Amino acid sequence: MAPLPNLVVLGCGFGGYSLLSALRRERWNATLVSPRNYFLFTPLLPSAATGTVELRSILEPARRRLRGVRVVEGFAEAVDWQARRVSCVGAVSGERFAVSYDVLVIAVGAAVADYGIPGVAEHARKLASVEDAQAVRRGILEQLARAEIPGLTEEQIRQRLTFVVCGGGPTGVEAAAEIHDLIHEELAESYPELSPHARVVLVEALGRLLGSFDAALAEYTLRHFARAGIEVRTAAKVRAVEEGRVLLADGETLPCGLVVWAGGNAPVPFLRSLGEPLTRQGRLVVDPDLRLTGHAEVYALGDCAAVGEPPLPATAQVAQQQGQYLARALDRGWAGKPVAPFRFKAAGMLAYIGGGQALADLPQVKWSGRGAWLFWRSVYLTKLVSPANKAKVLFDWIKARLFGRDLSRF
Ligand code: NAI
Repeated sequence: MAPLPNLVVLGCGFGGYSLLSALRRERWNATLVSPRNYFLFTPLLPSAATGTVELRSILEPARRRLRGVRVVEGFAEAVDWQARRVSCVGAVSGERFAVSYDVLVIAVGAAVADYGIPGVAEHARKLASVEDAQAVRRGILEQLARAEIPGLTEEQIRQRLTFVVCGGGPTGVEAAAEIHDLIHEELAESYPELSPHARVVLVEALGRLLGSFDAALAEYTLRHFARAGIEVRTAAKVRAVEEGRVLLADGETLPCGLVVWAGGNAPVPFLRSLGEPLTRQGRLVVDPDLRLTGHAEVYALGDCAAVGEPPLPATAQVAQQQGQYLARALDRGWAGKPVAPFRFKAAGMLAYIGGGQALADLPQVKWSGRGAWLFWRSVYLTKLVSPANKAKVLFDWIKARLFGRDLSRF
């Protein structure tokens, strides 16, 4: 029997993970190279950063569901197109190694853009990984502890309890909403003396929030935030972040305890090392069947790839559908059958806006409020990738409702 073809997948996000889950794995000698050995359900990361759900509830260890796939924890560094080999560095001990492929799938996602704004890397916390969510949660609890120090002036307490979220896209809006929920649902009980001083400020460079959502839903969010007491600054660009304050382009300074940075996506540096054409946003140019232009045996998908004109947005939904498509396409190619181009079916977008309300921007209907929130929760429950995730998230929601969020700091 001929040996199975070597399939190497770089990345365990929505693209890589959904590809490997849907693939007929018995037909391939599949290797997943990823710095982390789990899939992270990023849509619930803002909830995990505030303790509404626990981090482990939204992780799925790759080896549990991707039986038959060799999972190697490492970073891809470069690809030798001639030798069909990927050079990598081990994620734990930094050892160098290489993997050979017959078919390569690049699904390395995106990084968080800071546009070179001074201080973002040092003083702001992002919200893209498990470590980021832990840092945000710890950061909030640290500010509560700092605000409790006896002898502070009211102004000092207020500064420590001001949480500034930079970037009014879905990540920033959800982060602001979740932090506001946390401080208003838990502080009144556990820190009644601090509760009146806490505030959340959301800063967005453009004239409106949620640029990718329907304008009426964005307006609704503004009104909802105003009612809830979340301060929104639109047309306010962050120019620098310093220890204890955010500086805006118009000269205003926002003294604060914690800064969350949600300014959008940037390409991961690995893409530049490939020497292949990139779009202006730094994404790999791929053909309609997701093949890297000029490389019949290499595919790219998800946030790191641009398909179509204008390119599809860098969202979990696109990456997941591309992963599922490519699993089918590879299986059909394996069986010598023709493959149709990838077609994205937009299912709509959802966002949590706090206080038990959400937005549902669906192709047929634009929906906001309590009903949309129930819809948001049920969709996420269905989309979580394993029965274990679903059960854990459901219990977390019930736990948070019955007993409140855990405010222990460690
Ligand atoms: P984004 O690109 O959607 O939003 C980033 C925001 O930050 C933009 O509105 C931008 O104007 C603002 N910004 C950039 N620099 C700034 C500065 N210096 N000062 C103030 N504001 C600044 O990024 P996000 O929210 O991380 O989302 C990334 C992608 O993932 C998007 O395609 C988004 O649609 C998708 N996504 C969708 C979600 C959903 O549907 N629920 C949830 C999270 C992400």
